[in-house]
Amino acid sequence: MSEKPSITELLHISFPLIMAPMFLVSNKEMLMAGMRGGIMSVFPTLNFRKEGELGSILDELQTYQSAMSKGNYGVNLIVQSSNPFYKKHLEICIAKKVPFFITSLGNPKEVIEKAHSYGAKVFCDVTTLAHAQKCYDVNCDGFIAVGQGAGGHAGPNPLQVLVPALKKHFPNKPIIAAGGIVSGQGLLSVMVLGAEGASIGTRFIASKECTVTEAYKQGILNAGMDDIVMTTKLSGSPCTIINTPEAKKMGYTQSWFERVMSNNPNTKKWFKTLVQYRGMKKLEQSVLPNNYNRLWCAGKSAELIDGIQTCQEIIDGIQQEYNDTLQEFANKCK
Ligand SMILES: Cc1cc2nc3c(=O)[nH]c(=O)nc-3n(C[C@H](O)[C@H](O)[C@H](O)COP(=O)(O)O)c2cc1C
Repeated sequence: MSEKPSITELLHISFPLIMAPMFLVSNKEMLMAGMRGGIMSVFPTLNFRKEGELGSILDELQTYQSAMSKGNYGVNLIVQSSNPFYKKHLEICIAKKVPFFITSLGNPKEVIEKAHSYGAKVFCDVTTLAHAQKCYDVNCDGFIAVGQGAGGHAGPNPLQVLVPALKKHFPNKPIIAAGGIVSGQGLLSVMVLGAEGASIGTRFIASKECTVTEAYKQGILNAGMDDIVMTTKLSGSPCTIINTPEAKKMGYTQSWFERVMSNNPNTKKWFKTLVQYRGMKKLEQSVLPNNYNRLWCAGKSAELIDGIQTCQEIIDGIQQEYNDTLQEFANKCK
């Protein structure tokens, strides 16, 4: 019987790390730097919404990847009827034969079937066993286990429970852990729990290649773990943000009226679309250069981030810590 491929073989990368997809944050320079560093660079298709943009970034990444011997690239699709770009973006990604997909929310069946037709791999963001079961039933290739305190739509469960629980229930599916990881030690800790690698978001916002406002980067450097709070105001789902005066003013939970509209079968679809559209606009006003609003999405790992480095320096640092820690343990166990 042939042996199962390792995660690096499966994803055509040389180090088991994903540069996580980040709405309004992931950009071409970061993605290419990730590929040069030998990792998997993933971006949300929603970052390239203007006509022709998605096709052209995919062409550039594909050309870049062909010239590379180690890194790879992929896209993140929000698989929900409230995402008006879903069908169009999926069609473009399939036509361009994108090698790797991460799906968020919703049912990933269509993405998986289409991606598998040419051998691409699909990992699904999961925060609970129930969602993981749905993705397993439609033949996903692996899970991104999104734990408590992750940047963006964080899960309700700690990685120390979620990763082993996924491993126990779905022993043949590779798991990538996401949430709170910034170092080689963090990566190794989730591998000890049963993950094959890690997906890192917040750490890469404080990178030289990232083009968000300097104030946002400083906000991450200054934030401690207790400055990161959850709000459902931006998208309807719990999302981590820095607790700035603007975040306090916006609030953390949806009103009674908003919850009724989001759950009523007659209003659900359009109301969620409206909430997400409004949230997207608010974030845009905070993230893009020349804006002064302070609604900044970031995970609890902000506590551990204290400098702005290039993506290559961040990746090299994690690799160095990973190797040093392995060596330290080997020496301890002699
Ligand atoms: C600013 C920001 C935007 C994000 N946008 C997305 C997104 O569009 N789609 C998605 O699947 N995950 C998104 N995430 C979650 C990341 O892909 C990843 O799961 C998370 O950052 C991992 O936790 P960490 O930030 O502690 O490393 C976002 C995270 C951040 C910080």
